[in-house]
Amino acid sequence: MSDARERKKVLISGGTGLVGSVLVPRLLAKGYQVLVISRRKERIPRDAVPIVADISDRGWIAKCTDVVKDVDHLIWMAYSIAGDPEKDGRATFSGLVEAVHALQVRDVIFLGSTGVYGQNPAAGLYSEGSKKVADTNYAKDKISAVEFLRDQSARFRATVLHPSCIYSADSRRVEYYRKLLASVYLVYRNDGSGTYNIVHTEDVVDAILGAMSRETGAAFEEYIVNGETLRFRDWIRHIEQWCGYEDKKMLPPYLQPVCRGPVRQILSRWGYRSPAKMPALKASLFEKEIVFSTEKIKNHLGWYPKKKLAESLP
Ligand SMILES: NC(=O)c1ccc[n+]([C@@H]2O[C@H](COP(=O)([O-])OP(=O)(O)OC[C@H]3O[C@@H](n4cnc5c(N)ncnc54)[C@H](OP(=O)(O)O)[C@@H]3O)[C@@H](O)[C@H]2O)c1
Repeated sequence: MSDARERKKVLISGGTGLVGSVLVPRLLAKGYQVLVISRRKERIPRDAVPIVADISDRGWIAKCTDVVKDVDHLIWMAYSIAGDPEKDGRATFSGLVEAVHALQVRDVIFLGSTGVYGQNPAAGLYSEGSKKVADTNYAKDKISAVEFLRDQSARFRATVLHPSCIYSADSRRVEYYRKLLASVYLVYRNDGSGTYNIVHTEDVVDAILGAMSRETGAAFEEYIVNGETLRFRDWIRHIEQWCGYEDKKMLPPYLQPVCRGPVRQILSRWGYRSPAKMPALKASLFEKEIVFSTEKIKNHLGWYPKKKLAESLP
């Protein structure tokens, strides 16, 4: 292990949670000095530097700056959906803003969620440029944090990683997801908003470690999709290739909202590609032939998704 003075310093909020409990030991094993923020000291692993703080308290960082300084990587995974919108907003978003302003960070990694990926609700269309639409306080706070980091990204390198439902082989969530998937296997709200597939904690940790070790020029926002970390457009492109869409022309954005029913069929006959529809994309996430690492999901859950993409296309 390298000398303590040379060790890179990582400050983590949410380091005691589902992802954090896998991430922190991996970082310690790699020789990082790991500072873990938690409201309860006993939750912090012994080899980590404990930062006992409630990040939803205004000015929380000011009380810690004697210990928390010269941070190489800030990993913000804490979030709160306890029901008090103000406190929740501070834990998920404003606490991060305070940390970024108080510390000279060089690299920030923020965990968003595919559940808050924006879309055009009217047409149900889905693209990288879709405006993020907050339909819950959780989404609002996550989206605010992403926008803040995008604005600040000239000051430091920022990466936003969007996982969807995260499971771990030894967590109670396995049983939960098993039931969920066995009954519906695609999970999305009735209004079509949100997108879910399941990812393993290790996939999320690999994505975080990958983001930490990249040189400059990395993507600002990435999606953790069944064990792969992809830019949204690459994920869509994969799916479109498998759908046989790649040879078709893309409709101009102003025509996309009218691309439905008979108009859709006519345009398709003329060689235009239909815009990707949310349910089709979600369905495709669980398609054996096209999903990148469903084997991993099968091994952990003991259940395999069977529906073919062709059957799920509109
Ligand atoms: N789990 C999923 O399925 C899922 C899906 C999509 C996105 N994500 C995102 O992935 C990230 C990690 O999720 P996770 O499931 O690992 O989280 P988790 O297990 O629910 O843990 C939440 C963490 O937030 C910390 N926290 C909450 N409020 C805090 C406060 N006021 N002060 C200090 N710490 C506070 C908790 O620390 P203490 O309790 O120790 O204080 C805990 O470490 C989150 O940003 C989440 O939005 C998760």
